[in-house]
Amino acid sequence: MVRQFFVGGNTKMQVTFNSLNDIIENLNKADLDDKTEKVLAVPSIYLSEAKNRLNPSIAVSAQNVYGKNTGAFTGEIAPTQLKDFDIKWTLTGHSERRHIFKENDDDVAMRTKGALNEQLNVIFCIGEKLEERESGKTKEVVQHQLNSLNKDISKEEWSKIVIAYEPVWAIGTGKVATPEIAQEAHKDIRQWLTTNLGQDAADSVRVIYGGSVSHTNCGDLAKQPDIDGFLVGGASVKPEFVHIINANQ
Ligand code: G3P
Repeated sequence: MVRQFFVGGNTKMQVTFNSLNDIIENLNKADLDDKTEKVLAVPSIYLSEAKNRLNPSIAVSAQNVYGKNTGAFTGEIAPTQLKDFDIKWTLTGHSERRHIFKENDDDVAMRTKGALNEQLNVIFCIGEKLEERESGKTKEVVQHQLNSLNKDISKEEWSKIVIAYEPVWAIGTGKVATPEIAQEAHKDIRQWLTTNLGQDAADSVRVIYGGSVSHTNCGDLAKQPDIDGFLVGGASVKPEFVHIINANQ
């Protein structure tokens, strides 16, 4: 099975109303690879604007979501509230949610399950910290993150998930993983999929790479057999994001 190449942009909290509109205008006029699935994750306050302005070939995504649809959860966004604005995607488990805002594996699983319950598509982010890699625990950490979600969702629900492997030490640092290091981690994730969900899931679930992806390194990363695309942070708010979207051409 050929997995459709997937490029997500995550603007994080790095846009204003005006800069986001510049990004949207740049993307709308760009010649983008129509064979690549494209998603742009923007701050919640701008979801409606992005949805109304962005070329419909690019899906709009939330950057996080809560796991319940109502209740005393100040500041959170419910999956049904995203659906109110026809938002069909969300990130969960981004390393900044895990390591700055202290969402543990169970929190992330709860949020992901809540999104799946409302038929949202999820970019499920995982990845190890530098000290975990340096102590040889990358595979253990990544598999724990995957197992923590897998205990809460059905095999079928994995079809709504894109796994984003984002080594924490590569995020925002300019220290992109080499194609070989990234491919090794993606291959281990693919093996986890085969072992826990079977060959069909392993062949169909996209595993994308995130962590200092740029227009200069995306080509070599895209050539790796188990890298199915990217989740792009800093470069997603720059004109070079177009080149990254077209990396698989
Ligand atoms: O979600 C993608 C992000 O974490 C990667 O950030 O700036 O290293 O591309 P960046």
